Amino acid sequence: MPINFDHVPNRRKIAQINKWTYYPKDILPMWVADMDFPAPKPILNALHKVLDQGVLGYELASKSLYETIAARMDRLYGWKIEPDMVTAVTGIVSGFNVAARAFCTPEKGILVQPPVYNEFHTVKDHVGIPQVNAPLIKNVRGNILSYEIDWDMFEKQAKKAGMFLLCNPHNPLGIIFSRKELTKMAEICIRNNVLIVSDEIHSELLLDDNKFTPLAKISPEIAKHTITLIAPSKTFNIPGLFCGFAIITDQELRKKYVKMVEDLRIHVNSLGLFAAQAAFSGQCDGWLRNLRRYLTANRNFLLTYVTENMPEVRTTVPAATYLGWLDFTSTAINGSPFEFFMKEAKIALSDGKIFGQEGEGHVRINFGTSQELLEQGLGRMKKALDKI
Ligand SMILES: Cc1ncc(COP(=O)(O)O)c(C=O)c1O
Repeated sequence: MPINFDHVPNRRKIAQINKWTYYPKDILPMWVADMDFPAPKPILNALHKVLDQGVLGYELASKSLYETIAARMDRLYGWKIEPDMVTAVTGIVSGFNVAARAFCTPEKGILVQPPVYNEFHTVKDHVGIPQVNAPLIKNVRGNILSYEIDWDMFEKQAKKAGMFLLCNPHNPLGIIFSRKELTKMAEICIRNNVLIVSDEIHSELLLDDNKFTPLAKISPEIAKHTITLIAPSKTFNIPGLFCGFAIITDQELRKKYVKMVEDLRIHVNSLGLFAAQAAFSGQCDGWLRNLRRYLTANRNFLLTYVTENMPEVRTTVPAATYLGWLDFTSTAINGSPFEFFMKEAKIALSDGKIFGQEGEGHVRINFGTSQELLEQGLGRMKKALDKI
């Protein structure tokens, strides 16, 4: 059945503190990375079934869940993994923190590519290790932004790291790295004895007809040095269920990782496991095709709106995710655009600087919402900009 993504439920009615209730009521929230759409029916049905039974007891990830994940990796990418290579974790953030605890040292820390997902920047403090940055190079063409890898920098910084935390597709830039780039990054890491942790949480949120290849699928040699993190949370909009998976093909690496998961007593939410099984079963793929079309239309709307109405603002053209990245450094905004738009436009965006200092003067906008709300948000931004 086609889904109407134009209708979004009121998330202020049933709420603790969420995207819609965190800020005062007059603020339009386009910040934290969840979407405003209900999850697909097969997931909701699976959860209803558990609720109807009434017992919300402890559940462990079953063999059948891991088989479902292995089958999905094969079906989507032709990536052949065994079910016992999969470990359930309470999410991707805990997944990469576990890896940093297991494999980094105070001498050899974590390598990241800013501007990048804010939680990447918190690992150093949580784990007590250094962070080394290999910032992406920003290119500007007209009002379009693109970013590329600074290879000399990447190679230089890899020598100081124990683990490379890759974000692919990239949040907040929406990049899907090419096979060639992935191979080159992996080769540099392997040469320098750097473990790769590939955060692929956004891998199924592809726009246009874009394709995705898991890093570890590229070659057995790369897989041997890689921990892949996936989750149904972004794709099917169930991040509040806190359930993700680490796929580790190398037995020694896996043993060490699983031991750290056990040492830290990381127990996955039972409802998350049921939801993940339904999400990865294939029953939600029709919903996902419609979602991608809707998000692609929203991305196009955003680009056209910015180009036509705010020509001094620069934007990326995200290939994946529901996240746009806007650059205000050539506008008349004095200071932080995040604060400017909060105050003058009553819209909550994500402050670019949480993604690293390279993000100063930028904001991330979440377009995982109805086109009506997206238009409203952009309209508020234009009006505030026109007043300066
Ligand atoms: C790249 C990336 N990794 C991880 C997460 C969060 O993962 P989790 O909620 O499973 O910890 C996000 C959420 O925005 C993200 O963008």
